Amino acid sequence: MATSIKVFSLFTILFTCEIDVFSSTTTAAYSIGVNYGTVANNLPPPSQVATFLKTKTTIDRIKLFDANADILKAFANTGIAVTVTVGNGDIPSLAKLPAAQSWIANNILPFHPQTKLNYIAVGNEILATSDKFLIAHLLPAMKALRSALDSANASTIKVSTPHSLGILSASEPPSSGKFRKGYDKAIFAPILEYHRQTKSPFMVNPYPYFGFQPETLNYALFKPNAGVFDPVTGVNYTNMFDAQMDAVYWAMKKVGYEDVEIVVAETGWPSAGDPGQPGVSLENALSYNGNLVKHVNSGKGTPLMPNRTFETYIFSLFNENLKPSVSEQNFGLFRPDLTPVYDVSISRDGQVTLFFSDVNLLNHARIV
Ligand SMILES: *[C@@H]1O[C@H](CO)[C@@H](O)[C@H](O)[C@H]1NC(C)=O
Ligand SMILES: *[C@@H]1O[C@H](CO)[C@@H](O)[C@H](O)[C@H]1NC(C)=O
Ligand SMILES: *[C@@H]1O[C@H](CO)[C@@H](O)[C@H](O)[C@H]1NC(C)=O
Repeated sequence: MATSIKVFSLFTILFTCEIDVFSSTTTAAYSIGVNYGTVANNLPPPSQVATFLKTKTTIDRIKLFDANADILKAFANTGIAVTVTVGNGDIPSLAKLPAAQSWIANNILPFHPQTKLNYIAVGNEILATSDKFLIAHLLPAMKALRSALDSANASTIKVSTPHSLGILSASEPPSSGKFRKGYDKAIFAPILEYHRQTKSPFMVNPYPYFGFQPETLNYALFKPNAGVFDPVTGVNYTNMFDAQMDAVYWAMKKVGYEDVEIVVAETGWPSAGDPGQPGVSLENALSYNGNLVKHVNSGKGTPLMPNRTFETYIFSLFNENLKPSVSEQNFGLFRPDLTPVYDVSISRDGQVTLFFSDVNLLNHARIV
């Protein structure tokens, strides 16, 4: 991860390789993660993707929605960290140690440590499935995989599971944030206890895109806005991302686990959708993702989690043409031919530079 980055320009958001913006001693190169989804029939081969990310971008982490062996092989020796995901349906069987051991032996050990695996995500948004059988086996599967990793001398790989914000029964204002009744003590307290003991992160998928109203669009996009005041804390929230993160923080605090690290496993904004679809545009996608990257890397944290940097994975790397709706097909930073969706061009010396037409946005970003 890049550390102590103090300067920023929108040019450096996602794609800059070592452009020195303001001083001769500081190199601004934001690290950022992306979800490498593959619901498409036109994506380039993984080896090409790995070379592209390594040589042309500052993306230093990817998250997969499976444990695709070709991708894991392709990212060997790139230094790019990889998160793999266990299929939801595999969770019940993996609650037993022998099954967890063979899953690790088959899916992880052939690639470890040449491929830098950092997390195993056990299922995706399991609580949102409302499937009691899966939910009951989630933590046992996480523990069994943890044990299997330890016994295979792969203890650097951490185990977690990403949650949608549907786990909260209230989130506005943030101080009302709490886990759904029935899940708080029975499900989340033990999961968070596991994270605390294993020093693994609580993974959440905050999506202001799914939470904004017409009047809160600027608030969701990190643009100038009137703010949202939380009367309990006296905090005036100026962006919805902070508010969603602090709602999660409050829920964790209410069960006694606000010290556990949080990873943003997914967040993003589509650049295109159906005609007239509210809030969907290229400019908005650029504003959200660009400002998000700046924000999470700034070290400012959130009002209730000051000075914290959140490891963040944008959804997603590519536009995926087999997703069901137009907007879902257009969350990508890149097209399948590796050209950027936002207006980006690659300069002669191999650096990738962002260009775009909104001068105000550009100026805003450069002033910060
Ligand atoms: C365990 O892993 C470490 C680091 O990956 C390696 O240096 C060591 O040789 C391994 N030990 C065994 C017994 O495989
Ligand atoms: C919250 O902050 C915004 C933006 O700085 C400001 O316009 C607004 O007046 C503030 N509201 C309150 C209640 O402090
Ligand atoms: C956060 O960082 C600022 C500036 O370095 C410092 O003044 C402040 O005390 C820090 N706050 C916490 C809670 O660590």
